[in-house]
Amino acid sequence: MINILLLLLHIGLVGSLAPPGDWDRFNYAPSSRVVTPVAIHSSHGQLETPENLIGAKGKATFASSGSWLALDFGTEVGGLISLDINTASANSTLALSFTESPMFIRPTASDDSSFPSQNTTYDGILRVQAPLVTGLWQQPAATLRGGFRFLTLVSGSNAPLALSNVTCAISFMPHFPDLRAYTGYFSAEHPTFHDPDFLTKVWYGGAYTVQTNTVPLDTGRKVPFASAGTWANNAHLGVAGPIIVDGAKRDRAVWPGDMGIAVPTQFVSTNDLIPTRNALATMFAAINLKTGALPESGPPLNQQGSDTYHAWTLIGTHNYHLFSGDTEWVREIWSNFTKAVAFLEGKVDSTGLINITGLRDWARLGGGGHNSEGNALLYQVLVTASDLAVQLNETQLATAWATNATALKGRFNDAFWDEGAGLYKDNLTTTLHPQDANSFAVLFNLTGSEEKNQRISEGLQNNWNAIGPVPPELPDTISPFITGFELQAHFIAGQDKRAMDLLERTWGYMLYTDLSVQSTLLEGFTANGSLSYRYYDGYNNDPAYTSHSHGWSSGPTSALTFYLLGLTVTSTQGQTWNFAPHLNTGVPAAEGGFETPLGRFDASWSFDEDSNGNDVLNVQISTPPGTAGTVNLPSDMLASYTRNGLTKNLTLRGSPEITLQGGTHELSWDTDPGMCSSLG
Ligand SMILES: *[C@@H]1O[C@H](CO)[C@@H](O)[C@H](O)[C@H]1NC(C)=O
Ligand SMILES: *[C@@H]1O[C@H](CO)[C@@H](O)[C@H](O)[C@H]1NC(C)=O
Ligand SMILES: *[C@@H]1O[C@H](CO)[C@@H](O)[C@H](O)[C@H]1NC(C)=O
Ligand SMILES: *[C@@H]1O[C@H](CO)[C@@H](O)[C@H](O)[C@H]1NC(C)=O
Ligand SMILES: *[C@@H]1O[C@H](CO)[C@@H](O)[C@H](O)[C@H]1NC(C)=O
Ligand SMILES: *[C@@H]1O[C@H](CO)[C@@H](O)[C@H](O)[C@H]1NC(C)=O
Ligand SMILES: *[C@@H]1O[C@H](CO)[C@@H](O)[C@H](O)[C@H]1NC(C)=O
Ligand SMILES: *[C@@H]1O[C@H](CO)[C@@H](O)[C@H](O)[C@H]1NC(C)=O
Ligand SMILES: *[C@@H]1O[C@H](CO)[C@@H](O)[C@H](O)[C@H]1NC(C)=O
Ligand SMILES: *[C@@H]1O[C@H](CO)[C@@H](O)[C@H](O)[C@H]1NC(C)=O
Ligand SMILES: *[C@@H]1O[C@H](CO)[C@@H](O)[C@H](O)[C@H]1NC(C)=O
Repeated sequence: MINILLLLLHIGLVGSLAPPGDWDRFNYAPSSRVVTPVAIHSSHGQLETPENLIGAKGKATFASSGSWLALDFGTEVGGLISLDINTASANSTLALSFTESPMFIRPTASDDSSFPSQNTTYDGILRVQAPLVTGLWQQPAATLRGGFRFLTLVSGSNAPLALSNVTCAISFMPHFPDLRAYTGYFSAEHPTFHDPDFLTKVWYGGAYTVQTNTVPLDTGRKVPFASAGTWANNAHLGVAGPIIVDGAKRDRAVWPGDMGIAVPTQFVSTNDLIPTRNALATMFAAINLKTGALPESGPPLNQQGSDTYHAWTLIGTHNYHLFSGDTEWVREIWSNFTKAVAFLEGKVDSTGLINITGLRDWARLGGGGHNSEGNALLYQVLVTASDLAVQLNETQLATAWATNATALKGRFNDAFWDEGAGLYKDNLTTTLHPQDANSFAVLFNLTGSEEKNQRISEGLQNNWNAIGPVPPELPDTISPFITGFELQAHFIAGQDKRAMDLLERTWGYMLYTDLSVQSTLLEGFTANGSLSYRYYDGYNNDPAYTSHSHGWSSGPTSALTFYLLGLTVTSTQGQTWNFAPHLNTGVPAAEGGFETPLGRFDASWSFDEDSNGNDVLNVQISTPPGTAGTVNLPSDMLASYTRNGLTKNLTLRGSPEITLQGGTHELSWDTDPGMCSSLG
């Protein structure tokens, strides 16, 4: 009897997976931790039966000197290669090169990860030690490639060489025997997009991107960087593993700014938050006890001197606590946390604004002094720190931080709002209106006004070209990181169609371009879509260095769940929640959900016709018992959606606000006359 109860309790704690469904075919995560090539990309020289290597069916023979074979794993993967050497003689040689982008498939070099170099060939190739020994060969652990889609096998001599059984043992998510064991899911068709399944695909693309960034503790990029012609990924990354890093191929280090996007993705997809706690704990353990400064990045980089990334560690602590409810851990770091808040507050001068002096940031130019982005981040630090303090019963501190937040909000609007432009300025002495601060101002509710939200949403659109926003603060670039915040800002402004347009431009470009891996998401690109991200700002004009799997680019994953589907947690673990679907995206129906320690949260909505042919909106919400939530539908909103090639315009008349307890509820709205009925 007791044993059975304990077993049930255990199952309850382990959590429950997302329901199976049609959406599973868009999950990019492999079904096995050992994967084989799925196609031959290209070959050169004389080869016999190279197709045998697809799916590890048999032997391939390299029959001439310099023959090489580029194998395609179909999606981004990362890990250690093993293969069988079936035939080799004393003079046979074998080398391996790796790349994310097919642009850098070369028998002489991998893409770059150790260091950015204009020749694009810093990393070089991995030579299997000669003389070759027949039998199983396994890639040495230190030479791990954390992210690649293409593997090129190169025979360097006329001596015979035959290989078989080429596999990659996935290294990321080491604690997940089943990489597809998601707790969250999402599904929505957009009938007028060039690929109607794009929204679902990009949701899963973001989720898989963050999985590839969740890595074992001793697989960081080596610092000082490996010498030219080599690479090494055996550095120690923090206080515990697995740990979340910025990118699969590189930097393979903790970067708290990136986590501002990657962690909400992780929450709605795998709910795998321990790697996040390990990353945050790594930052707090490395605080400068004299000054209270947090590092900008984790070891072995240990980059210092960024006030904004310092702020992101603090904001990230609130995110982690909101999703996990891990108050015990927050108590552990609380003394370092308060020192770190005081560090930022100490930079607030007589103007009432923070003077940003730690200038390192997400790559943007400028950013110093009384800068609006830095002040927006400080505001969010104070609001979220105050909320955490309330939960720790630190009432006085909670009030003091909240009071300072309110004061800063007033100062922010006085100092930076440019009424003529309808946007915030970058600082007090410029007319530049940055993408980052304007997106943050809407997202963090610094505007406090619907009218400002509308003007900012409109103003930000002026930065767009065919594939996305070109930030004034980093010219000739598109930043999917900052664009992930802009995307949320358009949703918050109620500009659902504009949000969809942005999604299709920027993420549509990334997910489909044949310059990339068509599964995980690029770190950034130039305004014309080339891979030369940051060519003039830190990356030495090296397009081979750009990461093709960066969690900071996964903004759509949480945005589709939180805004388009409309389901969010509004207090720790979802004790309270909100359902506020965005209904004017053109999508006729959406479905999805996620898990917290309290249980599953699932919802769906759909425009339908009732038996009288009237338009109705049907909603289903299911949340854990003991929770409580609110439902908000737009009132008197014009919306349109497309189904079966037919576009319908309707007026949505929601009810002001419905309060619900946990459990399963079905609700239905007539779009006219606007009555809401609860069916259960
Ligand atoms: C191996 O290479 C050496 C040097 O090029 C050559 O002298 C020798 O004949 C080769 N051996 C075989 C078995 O091909
Ligand atoms: C590429 O440039 C780097 C310097 O950035 C140099 O160390 C390396 O040797 C060059 N590689 C080749 C193959 O020339
Ligand atoms: C094929 O490779 C795997 C490692 O991926 C290894 O465990 C297995 O023994 C190899 N099979 C053969 C027949 O050598
Ligand atoms: C707080 O910071 C100090 C100083 O760096 C460090 O020794 C300690 O481990 C940190 N505490 C926690 C819980 O991270
Ligand atoms: C103010 O903003 C402009 C535009 O971003 C920038 O060029 C300038 O350096 C900034 N001023 C300071 C003090 O950082
Ligand atoms: C910000 O602080 C730095 C360092 O104290 C100082 O040099 C700079 O003048 C200050 N900037 C402003 C706008 O006050
Ligand atoms: C805060 O105080 C309340 C009431 O005294 C108590 O129930 C709660 O457990 C306390 N929370 C924490 C985190 O100490
Ligand atoms: C609130 O702001 C004032 C003025 O900048 C500052 O002196 C005080 O330390 C701040 N309080 C907290 C708790 O940070
Ligand atoms: C945003 O701030 C305003 C006050 O400036 C407040 O009335 C409103 O409730 C806030 N909105 C949200 C969503 O917190
Ligand atoms: C794309 O932009 C980069 C950076 O400005 C430039 O070097 C490159 O020539 C452009 N490519 C094309 C095809 O215009
Ligand atoms: C729906 O509204 C749009 C713009 O408001 C209009 O162009 C379109 O013709 C309308 N479609 C129908 C079927 O009424």
